[in-house]
Amino acid sequence: MTTDRPVALVTGASSGIGKETALALVAAGFDVVGTGRDTSRVTPLGGVTFLDLDVVSETSVTAVVQEVSERFGRIDVLVNNAGVGSMGAAEETSLAQAQGMFDTNVFGVMRMVNEVLPHMRAQRRGRIINISSVLGFLPQPYMAAYAASKHAIEGYTESLDHEIRDHGVRALIVEPAYTRTGFETNSAKPDTPLHAYAKQRQTVDRVMAEAVRDGDAPAVVAKAIVAAVTDPKPKPRYTAGPLAGRARVLRRLAPAQVFDKQIRKMNKLAG
Ligand SMILES: NC(=O)c1ccc[n+]([C@@H]2O[C@H](COP(=O)([O-])OP(=O)(O)OC[C@H]3O[C@@H](n4cnc5c(N)ncnc54)[C@H](OP(=O)(O)O)[C@@H]3O)[C@@H](O)[C@H]2O)c1
Repeated sequence: MTTDRPVALVTGASSGIGKETALALVAAGFDVVGTGRDTSRVTPLGGVTFLDLDVVSETSVTAVVQEVSERFGRIDVLVNNAGVGSMGAAEETSLAQAQGMFDTNVFGVMRMVNEVLPHMRAQRRGRIINISSVLGFLPQPYMAAYAASKHAIEGYTESLDHEIRDHGVRALIVEPAYTRTGFETNSAKPDTPLHAYAKQRQTVDRVMAEAVRDGDAPAVVAKAIVAAVTDPKPKPRYTAGPLAGRARVLRRLAPAQVFDKQIRKMNKLAG
């Protein structure tokens, strides 16, 4: 089967932001392929073809991109949305745990990009949207490993964008703030908890849980993703929702000491 409609591949479309994005792209006129690690458990979404994909597996990534290309004859958009959180102090997170998280959040994105780019370059057309976070440009105590993974995505995406632009392909960043999904529940807890950090970790966990509960609806992020996908003159980065927009301005304009104090205050850290 080939199609005249543009085709979008959305990773991690089984829940949260990815699910809303898949639906929003269908509404915007795309043929959408959504993925999850076990899509037999996913409730069908109108207009979305679901395929199993684990972004940590090279074999799985190759098979899915091949299948989309064969079934639809084109891949116009890749939304790298699949991601996992990781809570706890930096010292409480083993290297193995941090590597596992990077394998999904960073190397998973790189695997997908390397696999779709030959198709997009051959078409001389394509757009890659990498889902970062406000933690791609802000520090977040007790989420250092996760913040590092999103900072990595920002540097990777901006650099990649310069390389592929000459081939008709763009790579863009979308930065959500706290969003009401299962993200926090699905986040890994520290695998080497230490008494020294326990009390403050619980406080930050509480702050995060409240922020996510009061956060944006996933549809707010989906709207920013559709804007990045469809903008005739794309911007390198799109913040999603008012809080993410304010955080970006604060990071750019606030004096370092004021910014530092604000991060400590928000996380109920002394001083
Ligand atoms: N929620 C927030 O506050 C927030 C804020 C900023 C950025 N983000 C980012 O937004 C993205 C989506 O998160 P969400 O909030 O929608 O959380 P979510 O509901 O937990 O969704 C995560 C998605 O990633 C998929 N996934 C996880 N590991 C995977 C793997 N190894 N291979 C393939 N898919 C995998 C999950 O699918 P299966 O489990 O079905 O495989 C699920 O569909 C993430 O990149 C996250 O870092 C979230």
